[in-house]
Amino acid sequence: MQSDDIRAKFIAFFTDPRRKHELIQGAPLIPSETDKSVLFTTAGMQQLAPYLLGEEHPKGKRLVSVQKCVRTQDIDEIGDNIHVTFFEMLGNWSLGDYFKEDAIKWSYEFLIDELGLDKARIYITCFEGNDDAPKDKKSAEIWESLGIPKERIYFLGEKDNWWSPGDNGPCGPDTEMFYDVVGNLNLKSKEEFKKADEKQQVVEIWNDVFMEYEKKDGRIVGKLKQQNVDTGAGLERLAMVMQGKDNIFDTDLFSGVIKKLEETSGKSYTDNQKSFRIIADHIRSAVFITAEGVLPSNTEHGYIVRRLIRRAVIAKDRLGLEDSGLHSLIEVIVSVYEKHYPYLRSKVMTISRTIEEEEKKFRKTLDRGIKQFERTYNMSVGRSTVDSELSSEVVFDLVTTYGFPFELVKELADERGLRIDEDAFNRRMELHRETSRAGAEQKFKGGLADASEETTMLHTATHLMLAGLRKYLGEHVHQAGSNITAERTRFDFTHGEKVDRGTLDKVEAYVNEVIRNKCNVVIEEMDKNTAMESGVEGSFWERYPDTVNVYMVKSSDGTVYSSELCGGPHVKNTGDIKGTFKITKEEASSAGVRRVKAVLK
Ligand code: SER
Repeated sequence: MQSDDIRAKFIAFFTDPRRKHELIQGAPLIPSETDKSVLFTTAGMQQLAPYLLGEEHPKGKRLVSVQKCVRTQDIDEIGDNIHVTFFEMLGNWSLGDYFKEDAIKWSYEFLIDELGLDKARIYITCFEGNDDAPKDKKSAEIWESLGIPKERIYFLGEKDNWWSPGDNGPCGPDTEMFYDVVGNLNLKSKEEFKKADEKQQVVEIWNDVFMEYEKKDGRIVGKLKQQNVDTGAGLERLAMVMQGKDNIFDTDLFSGVIKKLEETSGKSYTDNQKSFRIIADHIRSAVFITAEGVLPSNTEHGYIVRRLIRRAVIAKDRLGLEDSGLHSLIEVIVSVYEKHYPYLRSKVMTISRTIEEEEKKFRKTLDRGIKQFERTYNMSVGRSTVDSELSSEVVFDLVTTYGFPFELVKELADERGLRIDEDAFNRRMELHRETSRAGAEQKFKGGLADASEETTMLHTATHLMLAGLRKYLGEHVHQAGSNITAERTRFDFTHGEKVDRGTLDKVEAYVNEVIRNKCNVVIEEMDKNTAMESGVEGSFWERYPDTVNVYMVKSSDGTVYSSELCGGPHVKNTGDIKGTFKITKEEASSAGVRRVKAVLK
């Protein structure tokens, strides 16, 4: 069965008078201005969040849609059998109407009776329960009543069988349908199932989420006022099982693109599977994203599309396809989808131009970057301390300034027998991301309001507070922004959850103890890399020159209470700080970032 027929059957099945769903338009890939919580639409439920929370939908309580989605968190998996960065999701919804019984029955009927899939190849997972919600025995019972044997129904935890779109909003346990793509696995236990899942021998094809809970700031805060159903079935995966394939690239959605690539490269797909798949997947996503007006850039949506195109170009180079444009591939992709997304045809020239220009730009970048890489490599050869390692600073520079994908730097390094310290690189990237995040949100101006005595005292106290937060919460805590006036310090830091009062008290006590101990604040001039590698705390490293000032708070016996990269000013001795340090407020700032306010009283 062709993917077009699967789409049509799904809509017909749910709009049928026996099931009475109304067809709604899928949302654009780029969410509206009012929903800034995600860069891309990642699920059909996203545009429905207000209605899942209780608002009345103009089309009623039963809806069905085909939703284009982009999810790039699995970008490194692309090349395997079942992952894609763009996909279409078939979904049906109950907004406080039917619940588990009908949702599961209809999923079953659509898969088995409508599509004719083999019941003996279906496996089911249900939620095993936790402190927030009980074990979902009801779903398992319904599956059993439909004839799925008990030994093919497995209870799994929150990681597998709980679905929420983010830290806030409707969420709930889910039950997932998997299909045996080998044909005769005949699995008998959860352990066998998990192994088969890892090997992609069983593949999730549909998910029914029972959205009756609400999350706020990452925590379940209770039940919603209504019980909803949110289902999602990936079209690519349904096409795969319906067409008797074990991977999505062999389906009708991709076969034209793969064939065109074989023609233009003169290479066989079988021998170059991974590169073919990366190109096909990434260019397809780039087509859909650029069709919505996004241009490659270094931020937000533009950064994602740039990354996709650049990764595809590298994969193309591996096939020796350096000079061939991407236009013919884009043409094939548009012809597969234009029936459902007619706007693609009218934009095909713009899409092609955008993607091809980015390719050209990247080629220049690559040439420059490879020269830079060679220069660094040649300089480091012969120096015993560095000749086996490419410093994390160079890797960072190649990735952020020259736009090299990390994998490419790694490959170039491997070819020359150079090691890369991935952890050191990741630390730099993490700091860089915090800076970008802070920049993107413009949540604070940053820094000190002035250099008055009060502000300076609070500035030193803020360093101590960060040291205290890191001591009691962990090393993942870094500054994400600060704003200090004579009255108070407002400080953002990276941490995923609320900090309880007990911990805040400990942090306060830490700061006040150092104030009482009258410690000297000393400035040490250090090489930036040495500072970074020796664990000096700092954010926004890239704003600093190669030689940096590290402010250390040291007691007379040599204990270091804080050591942080900074431009000052600070008090000379913590004894100069007047008053008692008090944290007055703790709250969420943005995803993964907390904000505190503190004063000297
Ligand atoms: N929201 C769920 C998912 O994306 C079901 O639609 O899997």
